[in-house]
Amino acid sequence: MDVTNSAVWFTVSFVLIAAIAIKIAKGRTMFGSSRCTMPTPPVVDGISLIRFLHMLLTKGLRATIHDQHKRMGSVFTVSFFGQKLTFLVGPEILSHFYQGPDSEISHGNMLDFMIPMFGKEVGYGVDFTTRYEQIRFYIDALTRPSKLRVHVGPMIQEVEGYFAKWGQDGIIDLKHEFSMLLMLISSRCLLGKEVRNKMFDEIHTLFHELDSNGMSLSSVLFPYAPTPANRRRDRARSKLSEIFTEIVRSRRCSNQVEEDVLQNLIDDAKYKDGRSTTEGEVTGMIMLLIFGGKHTSTAATTWTGARLLSSERSLTAVAEEQKQIVRKYGDHIDYNVLLEMETLRCSIKEALRMHPPAAVDFRKVHKNFTVETKEGHKYEIPRGHTVASPILFNSNLPHIYKDPDVYDPSRFSRERQEDKIGGKFTYAAFSCGRHTCAGEAYTYMQIKAIWSHLLRNFELKLIYPFPETDWGKLMPEPKGKVMVSYKRRPLPIN
Ligand code: HEM
Repeated sequence: MDVTNSAVWFTVSFVLIAAIAIKIAKGRTMFGSSRCTMPTPPVVDGISLIRFLHMLLTKGLRATIHDQHKRMGSVFTVSFFGQKLTFLVGPEILSHFYQGPDSEISHGNMLDFMIPMFGKEVGYGVDFTTRYEQIRFYIDALTRPSKLRVHVGPMIQEVEGYFAKWGQDGIIDLKHEFSMLLMLISSRCLLGKEVRNKMFDEIHTLFHELDSNGMSLSSVLFPYAPTPANRRRDRARSKLSEIFTEIVRSRRCSNQVEEDVLQNLIDDAKYKDGRSTTEGEVTGMIMLLIFGGKHTSTAATTWTGARLLSSERSLTAVAEEQKQIVRKYGDHIDYNVLLEMETLRCSIKEALRMHPPAAVDFRKVHKNFTVETKEGHKYEIPRGHTVASPILFNSNLPHIYKDPDVYDPSRFSRERQEDKIGGKFTYAAFSCGRHTCAGEAYTYMQIKAIWSHLLRNFELKLIYPFPETDWGKLMPEPKGKVMVSYKRRPLPIN
């Protein structure tokens, strides 16, 4: 069981949840009455709230949800400062959470701190209809095989170029290396050649300024306060906007056509009324995409490595798969070859099951809805509640995942398919339904490109103990450095 004694996690989560609740209290009520005709969920308050918070402080999120789940069942409400946070435990009761219309259940104003990061023309700065159209643009650019295919060549070049700079042997921090490499891949595949070749260092620094300040606790809670962090965030955004606006303008003027995602957002993205995207929209959308993939992909690539290097059986299985693929295709890698790396895909998926970068997903309820637990209890969740899908806990339920604390990629094999046991909301590392991650397929491609190269060319050993989770981050990631020793060694094929 994942046990963390991190006081940081407690402080951050408590303050954040309280802040979210206060924002919600201030938020506008959108629909109808919250009067309930059915029982509402059991409430954690008074002494049991103190117990809940104490456990959160001493044992961590997963153990705390486990404890409440045992005592109160699959649906329970934590009540504090007059605000209600209702947990929905288990995939059977998440249908409305993930699929309900935004007019009934949505992110509300919880993610408003992103508006000054990416602008008022995109994401949470626009109405639902426009946002859905923009999500369609991301999906078109990032999930269609015809679009994804063109990124494999550039991705592989970046991967080969990056690891060519490593020596014959050495010791590196895996997390740092992946963070740099993934940013190079994003620059190339999302932003394009101009940025990758001429201004990578500048863009890299500006993105770091944008997200480290925009995601700081003070900026998340008070995004418009005149604080130094908000000023640094605004300066970075304004400079990034200037650079991208210039690129969009120059591509439009010269009829230059590139094969990157930026180009898709310029040329292919058309609203239903026929309108093309504005410079501000393209700029905001591309920044949002970089942000959406930056920390999540670094964490996923690092966890995959840490898990594989700690499990001889799994490491042998992915290496065996690479041998077979090399026998079939030689060194050539394209989109179809990446698709054949099924064992590697399951290994990444399993690392994300155990370490989902979004450990809990939240929504605000605008209209009462009912849930029925697998034990047959029915509850009505009132308007005004914040609801939480505890992804970390749900992805470790023992009635779904056999031995959930064991790293076992084969649980996702065609024969076992444990991710289907609880229905379509069983596996939610990339969310599900309406707001499912637009970058999922792209993510698998880039992590496969990186790990297939490492497996084919290096012998790696984890020299630090298996990393703990850093709960002090808004998106939990491996804590500290993840030190690994490497030696160049081609994978023996015969
Ligand atoms: C391991 C890597 C990743 C993980 C675990 C992940 C996870 C998620 C999750 C959980 C959500 C939904 C949040 C919610 O429901 O509130 C989401 C949304 C999103 N992700 Fe990812 N993501 C990853 C990589 C990426 C990448 C590489 C991109 C872009 C290239 C991306 C783009 C997006 C976008 C645009 C959305 C918003 C969709 C919407 O608003 O409906 N993600 N991601």
